[in-house]
Amino acid sequence: MPRTPSPGRAYPHQQHCRPRQARAFLQTDLRRLDLVISSKLFEPLAVGSLRLSNRIVIAPMCQYSASEGRMTDWHLIHLGQLAMSGAALLTIEATAVLPAGRISCGDVGLWDDATEAAMDTVLQGVRRWSAMPIAIQLAHAGRKASTDLPWHGGAQILPDHANGWQTVAPSALPFKDSDHPPIALDRTGMEQVRDAFAKAARRSARLGIDAIQIHAAHGYLLHQFLSPLSNQRDDEYGGALENRMRFPLEVFDAVRAAFPAKRPVSVRLSGTDWVPGGWDIEQTVIFSRALEARGCSTVHVSSGGLHPAQTIAVGPGYQVPLARAVKQRIGIPVVAVGMITDFDHAEAIVATGDADLIAIARGILYDPRWPWHAAAHLGASVVAPPQYLRSQPRQFPSLLQRGGGTALS
Ligand SMILES: Cc1cc2nc3c(=O)[nH]c(=O)nc-3n(C[C@H](O)[C@H](O)[C@H](O)COP(=O)(O)O)c2cc1C
Repeated sequence: MPRTPSPGRAYPHQQHCRPRQARAFLQTDLRRLDLVISSKLFEPLAVGSLRLSNRIVIAPMCQYSASEGRMTDWHLIHLGQLAMSGAALLTIEATAVLPAGRISCGDVGLWDDATEAAMDTVLQGVRRWSAMPIAIQLAHAGRKASTDLPWHGGAQILPDHANGWQTVAPSALPFKDSDHPPIALDRTGMEQVRDAFAKAARRSARLGIDAIQIHAAHGYLLHQFLSPLSNQRDDEYGGALENRMRFPLEVFDAVRAAFPAKRPVSVRLSGTDWVPGGWDIEQTVIFSRALEARGCSTVHVSSGGLHPAQTIAVGPGYQVPLARAVKQRIGIPVVAVGMITDFDHAEAIVATGDADLIAIARGILYDPRWPWHAAAHLGASVVAPPQYLRSQPRQFPSLLQRGGGTALS
């Protein structure tokens, strides 16, 4: 990292300059120095009552390791290690608001006292040792529910088989042609789903969760309502964009009303289906604006997952252009996600204003100290537990800042 010369010494380029030229050079150099020293990725951000220490968010990641929707000690290990990573926010995996909304029988749920109590045990364990804010992703898988665990192939499980159940969706259209079709939700069914989201939001508030993310991406139930490929209803919830947005917006309103006003409610959405005639970036922008008008705190822009015919050119930051397109047309913070693994790339996404935050998933499973390494690389610092402070490399003397949960305060 460039260093300011000690008093009385000049930069090499100043040695043969006249004073005015020297000043100009120095100013240029200081500006360059600023760019290096003040990393935007490590600039704090306030979102409602949430104080984010940097711009790195841990994306939700299903672990398929719950029992009847109840978190297990796997979740304590998994979330516990991520809570030591130095990221600004830890997002709990897609959490089903109803048993039928689980992708698989191993999904986490938050629909009754037993699932709430199991989550409470895990959260207390994590919070005892880490002060990292925690968000939860509330979800319903719709027609993509009732599948086998991914490491068993992830195929659909039929309703009359063990660990299978009848799925629901906006229309009776299966994800794959060969799938057992979902039942189209009627108004009563939709109200039950909406109320289940609100109840799960109230349980989240009781658990002290700092923020909610509503899952409206990746082809799950709310995305199924948004996309014309999966929503072919002929009532006021299908057809025109305004109608397709109606149910997701009703769910947003119900969750927003059920969660303390100062704590953020955000939405994760797919910026495009990557299928001609499907959900696209223009509709995403209109939906994001409608969310903003209703008090949504941030929009998290992912993509795809709705249709087997999707064609995606996957590469580093492949979804960033979608985040940028939304960011340019709304006022609330935007999160970019998808193959952001390089520190300078992450820094550039935030510094150039493509997005306000970046989320990482696979990268932080691979390297749970990714934010530490990013901070070292960019000359910033991260919060670390006092038990680990002695690991600080000598060449980064101000990398680790003491932090910790209730057991250490
Ligand atoms: C193991 C695993 C589980 C995931 N579970 C979820 C989930 O629960 N909810 C969700 O919205 N996305 C989920 N995703 C998608 C990630 O949040 C993320 O959007 C995607 O992996 C792209 O980011 P990455 O390139 O940093 O991994 C999951 C991804 C992985 C690898």
